[in-house]
Amino acid sequence: MAIKFAKRMDGLKGSEIRELLKLTEKPEVISFAGGLPAPELFPVEEMKEISRLVLEESGKEALQYTTTEGFGPLREQIAERMNRKLKTDISKDDLIITSGSQQGLDFAGKIFLNEGDVVLVESPSYLGALNAFKSYCPTFIEVPTDNNGMIIEELEKILESTENVKMIYVIPDFQNPTGKTWSMERRNKFMDVINKFEIPVVEDNPYGELRFEGEVLPSLKSMDEKGLVIFLGSFSKIFCPGYRIGWVCASPQILSKFVFVKQGADLQASTISQREVSKFIEVYDLDAHVEKIKTVYKKRRDLMLSTIKEYFPEGIEYTHPEGGLFTWIELPSHLDARKIMEKCLENNVAYVPGGSFFPNGGKENTFRLNYSNMPDEKIVEGVKRLAEALNEALLENANI
Ligand SMILES: Cc1ncc(COP(=O)(O)O)c(C=O)c1O
Repeated sequence: MAIKFAKRMDGLKGSEIRELLKLTEKPEVISFAGGLPAPELFPVEEMKEISRLVLEESGKEALQYTTTEGFGPLREQIAERMNRKLKTDISKDDLIITSGSQQGLDFAGKIFLNEGDVVLVESPSYLGALNAFKSYCPTFIEVPTDNNGMIIEELEKILESTENVKMIYVIPDFQNPTGKTWSMERRNKFMDVINKFEIPVVEDNPYGELRFEGEVLPSLKSMDEKGLVIFLGSFSKIFCPGYRIGWVCASPQILSKFVFVKQGADLQASTISQREVSKFIEVYDLDAHVEKIKTVYKKRRDLMLSTIKEYFPEGIEYTHPEGGLFTWIELPSHLDARKIMEKCLENNVAYVPGGSFFPNGGKENTFRLNYSNMPDEKIVEGVKRLAEALNEALLENANI
């Protein structure tokens, strides 16, 4: 039967990460593939108590519809945290609650992109965002990056020579997939260029609070004088992804569009999830919880990097993330990380090949490793297995 789908479905295929996660569900696989938080850090006992409290104190309201903008007290708590941690100056009316920050990405595409419009992204960028934007059939232009973030001279050249740039998507803190963070100089220069060209910027920041070392740098949103920055936040990595609670903070003109498309998409984020997250913040100390997460992830990052240093063959580059969940590996240019992945899966170890983080293709000699989700002994064993596969691949290629 020839079923006719919308044109926007033509270029869409399932996320490679989601497909890979299926393969890595087997318990014997040591997976560095997903971006999953450590489940042993979820406050399960506390949430049993919180969920009972919410239902006892306000059961009827918790099980009822709520406003599209979201539960007021939670929006106030988020505004307070953003002002304290990210140096913004906002109130609850400057943000709405979304079903994860992923929904904010989809909405940004819906609001800004007509077919053929140009969206600028860091090269490489978060696959989930690229896939969300793809439904709106844009053209992607990748802006080159280095260890300090987006290369602003390149951005300026692109903006000067390209029509129809509707949106720029960036992850300045502990980027997915590279783990890199933009320097202060880059942030300043970026905002100068943005203010000159007046293009909306989506600043995606699910990892910003997970800094293990170094100086906290201001969010782009806190430097935004013209109301061009749309900030996406999330509780997924600092609390639990299962509640699916994120938020969008933007100028009134832009935020009203997000409210409108949210009404059409799902009316509102889950009332009970919003109330439970809010109650947790009220009763417990979320900052202390984030500190706990940071201590564990820092230890795992250190262990992964020191094991890589000890066992990986010469000539392989890797990033040193100051926070977040990922490190990024660059192999000699003749090696193909997708092919090596097949061998790794036979040895029950997994990563995400880097090619899919480049919307226009290329860079198949890269891969992303997650260090938040595996316990210490599996990190060491998994990195050793990766090293074996890499050594074999280097040998095979030397013999060709
Ligand atoms: C950069 C980035 N943005 C957004 C998301 C989506 O997060 P959530 O929808 O759980 O808030 C993720 C998830 O891993 C991510 O890495």
